[in-house]
Amino acid sequence: MRNISFSYIEEELKRVEEQFESHLITETPLIHKVAKYVISSGGKRIRPILLIVSAKICGYKGVSHIPLAAVIEFIHTATLLHDDVVDNAPLRRGKSSANMVFGNEASVLVGDYLFAKSFKILSALNNSEIIKAYSDATTLMAEGEVKELVKTADVKTTEEDYLDIIIKKTAVLFACASQAGAIIAGKENDCIKNLYDYGLNIGIAFQLMDDALDYISDEEFGKFIGNDLKEGKLTLPLIHAMERAGKKEKNIISKIIYKKKLTTKDLKTVLGLVSDYGSIEYTVSKAKEAVEKAKKNLDAFPDSKYKTSLIDIANYIIERKL
Ligand code: IPE
Ligand code: IPE
Ligand code: MG
Ligand code: MG
Repeated sequence: MRNISFSYIEEELKRVEEQFESHLITETPLIHKVAKYVISSGGKRIRPILLIVSAKICGYKGVSHIPLAAVIEFIHTATLLHDDVVDNAPLRRGKSSANMVFGNEASVLVGDYLFAKSFKILSALNNSEIIKAYSDATTLMAEGEVKELVKTADVKTTEEDYLDIIIKKTAVLFACASQAGAIIAGKENDCIKNLYDYGLNIGIAFQLMDDALDYISDEEFGKFIGNDLKEGKLTLPLIHAMERAGKKEKNIISKIIYKKKLTTKDLKTVLGLVSDYGSIEYTVSKAKEAVEKAKKNLDAFPDSKYKTSLIDIANYIIERKL
């Protein structure tokens, strides 16, 4: 996001950051400690940015986009707290994850607090369409995470299953962010739908890239390589390679997926096959397709600096390393 200029919303983003602080004051200091640890650890704030720019492209002149942007990041933070417990993740944003520092119990409970607080903030805005958008998104996200859990180590997972999972666990929150901008601006259904689809498509591209990076990234970018494989998660690079692999190779990969502990050799074997079958290129090409669709979803908007920002965000998704 560093190369994209959002200077015109800097002031608003500052107000979003102030909201985080004010909503975390409770009688129980551990809530502030854990939530602050994650929220202050250098997230890209892509969802709040999306929400604010979407409100602006719709001509919104009020102030509700600030709490809405804070809530979208709270929900994102809550899912990360839970997700890192579920995934046994040692790192988040290049630092020890909250579950490593404070334990699984505190991570789960503070994640719950953030979800509950999010809906308390939303209910104060008295907008049923907004409540519906956020509750639909969070319900689907939870379903996506559960479906992914059910599919753990299932070597029969198809590309279709995978797409359904990533739409639910990741893309619907992006869609909620961009859609919320149009809802509070009182825009008509077509416009709301265009921004929803834009968010959904960049969200799909975002998770595809995340899953490609899991095979090619390294610690320098704040993640260990092969974490998904270690957790038995079949993401598109592996699904693609499995579909093309011969019987013998399939057996080898399956055995590795079922293993509790991976050796460097196991990792190398899978990385080799994923590379031989062009599975990373395939995953990235799917992400590029989704980004192109997202840009098409903006066709009905006249040119403006806001539209340029939304196009820049879409392009950034396939360039990001983190
Ligand atoms: C990480 O999201 C979780 C996924 C959906 C892959 P981000 O990459 O937006 O997380 P931060 O907030 O910028 O760290
Ligand atoms: C995160 O999914 C998406 C959520 C909805 C929490 P992943 O488990 O694939 O993302 P990272 O790699 O931990 O960020
Ligand atoms: Mg994870
Ligand atoms: Mg996960």
